[in-house]
Order: sequence, then C-alpha cells, then structure tokens
Amino acid sequence: MNNIIKKIAGAGVVAAALGACTPQAQPAEDKCCENAQGTACNPVIETIMTRRSIRKYKDNPVGRDTMQVILECGINAPNALNKQSWEVRVVDNPEFINGITELFKQKNPKATEGPAFKNMFRNAPTVAFVAQDAAFPFSKIDCGLMGENMMLSAWSMGIGSCCLGGPVHFINNEPEAKPYLDRLGFSEGYELIYCIAFGYPDETPDAKPRKKEKVMFVE
Ligand SMILES: Cc1cc2nc3c(=O)[nH]c(=O)nc-3n(C[C@H](O)[C@H](O)[C@H](O)COP(=O)(O)O)c2cc1C
Repeated sequence: MNNIIKKIAGAGVVAAALGACTPQAQPAEDKCCENAQGTACNPVIETIMTRRSIRKYKDNPVGRDTMQVILECGINAPNALNKQSWEVRVVDNPEFINGITELFKQKNPKATEGPAFKNMFRNAPTVAFVAQDAAFPFSKIDCGLMGENMMLSAWSMGIGSCCLGGPVHFINNEPEAKPYLDRLGFSEGYELIYCIAFGYPDETPDAKPRKKEKVMFVE
C-alpha cells in the first residue's frame, strides 16, 4: 500500500475505499458518455461528464473517512515541481459555518434572503478552504487542479460539490471574519483563494452549456 495513504488514513479506511474505486469494465450498452460523442465509456469519463455544481444539500455532513479519501485524491493532483503549494482545511463544525454566516448576513442581507438559504457556502454542511502559496507563481494552478481532483472523486462517491470564489473576499478582508480565518490556521505566506462546498446533493441540476468553439485542433 502507498505509504502516504498509510500515513494519512491510519486505520486503512482510505485504502479500502480507494480499492473499491478500481475501474471496472463498463458494459458496451452503457451510454454514460453520450455527450462525449463516441469517446469510449469508462468510469472516469462518466464522472467528469455527469458532475454538476450542487447548491442544495442534505443536512448531514460528509463523513470524515470519506472526506479523507477526497483529500487524498486532492493531494495526488499534478502540481508544479511537486512543491504541493497548497493548504486545505476542512470544516464540518456547524458552529463555525453558521457563525461566520451570521457575520456575512449582517454585511450582505440581500444575498442571504429566502427560505432556501442555510449558509454562505451554498448551504453545504462541509466546506474545504483552499489556500495558495502567494509567493509561488504556479500555486493557483496547483490549487485548482487539486480542487478538481477533490470534486471529481467526491462525485464518483455520490457527493456533490461547488467551487466557491464568492465567500473569499469577505473572509480575507472583513475584520469580523478574522477570528474564523485565524482558526483555519494557514501557514505564513499562504492565502485563502477559494472554498469548496461538499455534501449529499438535494437537487439534480442540468448540465450547463459549454462553448465547444473554444477548443480546436490546429494543423
Ligand atoms: C473559480 C470558481 C469560482 C466559483 N465561484 C462560485 C461561487 O462563488 N458561487 C457559486 O454558486 N458557484 C461558483 N462557481 C461554480 C460555477 O458557477 C460553475 O462551475 C459553472 O457555472 C459551471 O457549472 P457546473 O460546475 O455545474 O458544470 C465557481 C467556479 C469556479 C471554477
């Protein structure tokens, strides 16, 4: 077993879950990748093509063993010079999420109106906060790739997610939010650049249209 997995997982829960993710041959009639226009069907492509940003979640947080698998997938993303120029903090404590949301509400009453509003993280019960190494020019790319690994691995296990840039300005800049930023405990030189909402989906949104003309082959 991979040493890192041993270190992080302790009891081997991650290893068991990762073992369960070994790609299985898909039956030929499986139409999971219809959108991929003839691309061979496999579980990775299916996960990529069916993922949606989720903004309504069931109340129960994602179990920590499962979040550990998601984090493990995150830190296995490609990254510049293998510097792993990211830091991630996962919060599933309602006191933290609701507490900072109350402060956010006071500053942004309009954004928090409506009966569906639960919290400032698109109503998710579990939130990952991602920080970049502000002195490393490739760090934003590292952090983005890591987050996508987390979101795709989550989706492959039935867990929804939503990448969130919206809360960052408030958390980084409003003095009231500072105690919460401090609790995240990022290292000196690291700065919060985005959050990822995680939870069990309570909606099934359609795929957003994609601009296919943005990509092309060049001879
Ligand atoms: C850097 C970044 C920031 C985002 N910030 C927000 C946000 O603040 N709030 C939100 O609801 N969605 C946010 N999103 C999610 C996008 O709106 C979503 O990915 C896009 O509309 C495509 O939809 P899909 O993820 O379902 O394919 C963000 C996505 C990225 C990559």
